Parts: sequence; C-alpha cells; structure tokens
Amino acid sequence: MTADARPRSTPTDARSAADPVWVFGYGSLIYKVDFPYLERRPAQIRGWARRFWQGSHDHRGTPDAPGRVVTLVREAGAVCVGMAYLVTPDVFAHLDHREKNGYVRIGVDMEFGDRSAVGGVVYFAAEGNEAYLGPAPEAAIARHIARSKGPSGPNRDYLLHLADALRALEDYDPHVFAIERHLREFEREAVAA
Ligand code: SIN
Repeated sequence: MTADARPRSTPTDARSAADPVWVFGYGSLIYKVDFPYLERRPAQIRGWARRFWQGSHDHRGTPDAPGRVVTLVREAGAVCVGMAYLVTPDVFAHLDHREKNGYVRIGVDMEFGDRSAVGGVVYFAAEGNEAYLGPAPEAAIARHIARSKGPSGPNRDYLLHLADALRALEDYDPHVFAIERHLREFEREAVAA
C-alpha cells in the first residue's frame, strides 16, 4: 500500500517515528517550496477557511510593523484548497523554524482529487498567539498588506503569489481574491495620483 492510500483510520501509535508525514500547505507553503519532499499533490481540508488574520513579525513584517499572512479558522461547510507534501520527519526542523511565528502543527485529514483521504499535519496559528491580528474588513487588510514588508520581502508579494498559486490549483477563494482586487485597486490609484 502506498503512503497516500493509507486508510484515514490508521492509528497514530501504529506509525513509526521515521515514517513520512503528509503536510498540508495553504499559504506560502503552496508556492515557496524550500524543502525536500517525496511526493506533492493538490489537496483540500474540510471545515477550515483560509484567513489573512495572522500577523507576521519575521517574514512579511517586523515586530513593530507586522505584516498579514494566512491562518485557518474553523467554519462549518468550508473547504480550504492547498498543496500536500509527503515529507520525511527530519524536514520538520526546517519547517518548524520557518513557521515559528505563532504557528503550531496540528493533525488534519486531507483529501486528494481522487477522493482518497490521509491523515497528516498542518501549520495552524490559533487566535491569541503572539502574532495574531484577527479579523478586519478585506479592504483594510489589503491596505495593511500594501504598506508592509519584512525580511522575506514585500507583503504584497505573499498575497499575489498565493492568489496565483490558487488560480493554478483552479481554486476560487473569495477572501484571498477580494483582498487581491482591493490591493490592485489601491496600487492603480497610487500610480494615478
Ligand atoms: C502554510 O502555508 O501552510 C502556512 C502559512 C504560511 O506559511 O504562509
């Protein structure tokens, strides 16, 4: 049986610590793949929505002027589309460092296009973590993103790369695309002014 066909009910304690693990990426992990993986597949998770509610002190902003990046929020009926990677456990040293600004790994079930499902992990930034910013109107989020930058570059690039990656996955995420539309509008206005 291949790893991706492993039944969802496989008990965690039946797995060895050296077994590869599926990681579901829904933000920069979709488009910035700076880690080795054994396999990569488009995937989705149910009951979660992607939101630009997490602050970024170390990638797209600074502690004094945080940027905005995505986290997940529980939402009945929601489906979050992303990319799943099968990685060996040693890869988590790099990923945990990259996602250290408020994200923790939690277990999640993910589904592939052929409807098969596997258990894995996702990086989740919970409400109240040290960098959490919370909800705001999408236009305000776009303005915030437009003015933010950090060691990994302008915050706008994070948003635009994510929107492009979602289009490539043929996903329509109304939250991400609304913020992208606002940002483009603000940038057109700034050029015209
Ligand atoms: C993810 O991409 O899955 C987590 C959030 C991020 O790094 O942008």
